[in-house]
Amino acid sequence: MKIAVIGATGLVGQKMLQVLAERNLPIDELIVAASERSIGKKTLFKGKEYTLISVEDAIEKRPDIAIFSAGADASLKYAPLFAEKGTYVVDNSSAWRKKEGIPLVVPEINASDINADTHIIANPNCSTIGLVMALAPMHRRYGIKRIVVSTYQSVSGSGIKGLNQLHCEQRGEKAENPAYPHQIHENIIPHGGNFLEDGNTTEEEKLIFETNKILHSNIAVSATVARVPAYGGHSESVNVEFSQPYDVQEIRKILENTPGVIVADNPSENLYPTPLMAYDKDEVFVGRMRRDNSIENGFNFWVVTDNIRKGAATNAVEIAEYLFHSLKFRVES
Ligand code: A2P
Repeated sequence: MKIAVIGATGLVGQKMLQVLAERNLPIDELIVAASERSIGKKTLFKGKEYTLISVEDAIEKRPDIAIFSAGADASLKYAPLFAEKGTYVVDNSSAWRKKEGIPLVVPEINASDINADTHIIANPNCSTIGLVMALAPMHRRYGIKRIVVSTYQSVSGSGIKGLNQLHCEQRGEKAENPAYPHQIHENIIPHGGNFLEDGNTTEEEKLIFETNKILHSNIAVSATVARVPAYGGHSESVNVEFSQPYDVQEIRKILENTPGVIVADNPSENLYPTPLMAYDKDEVFVGRMRRDNSIENGFNFWVVTDNIRKGAATNAVEIAEYLFHSLKFRVES
């Protein structure tokens, strides 16, 4: 099969190539594309050099699957052009997530939202993926009424720009093209994306909307997004209100048996998830599980996800794997 990575020079695009190389999709032809300025440059895949081409040329090659991480504008413009040719697009940007009829998928939870006619599949926001990986089994068991989530997001969530800003500021220099309106080094910025009229930010709105689209639920979600000076890994503090009484030990067992989730929760040994623990891992790490006695059926936990892996590249590649195995498609030539 032919697979294309669009935005292959970016932080997530490079990780997608790494994850594709680690796993066993039978790739006969790999196509790598990025913006005009990268055409002709080379990138490595399984030790072999591949030349970057334009997105237009990638469309003409009619790949079976195109995995996008090139920003929302490029996705809006090019995803339908690929789809018209029969290519299945897995899109990591926010461009298509809210559109009706476009599945928003975490394969462990709602892969069945995909069918042969859905040629564009949206990959959720990095913080949403970690959150719903932990919430889905709890919601299935007890039903969730409301959550309050606060994120502690690393700078890699803002791509190379975010990493550069933190690097520069740590060296005492000012970044030329900063990702944030304030210094991030030795600071925390309670602001992700753009502010909306209601005072939430676009990043907060993503958590609110995407959680319910993925879980097919109607959970009340209150979200605050903050950027912290960690290079990688998004952490989230989550307060849950269940619809009925629950048992902490049962939740622990359920999560221990949930593929893709690792329980790291032993306060007596200072064991709880941290961004460094989750670094370069595909699993989502959950800890600090405890009853919240301030409300009836209240529960607290802490979840950490490598935002570039399961929060982006790994989830997208898993969607591609699902497409390959379940649809057994071929693009007409
Ligand atoms: P390029 O490196 O040529 O600019 P990041 O979010 O880490 O900065 O990565 C963004 C990725 O999206 C890069 O691979 C970048 O390519 C690519 N990209 C940005 N704009 C476009 C576009 N209009 N068409 C195709 N690729 C794009």
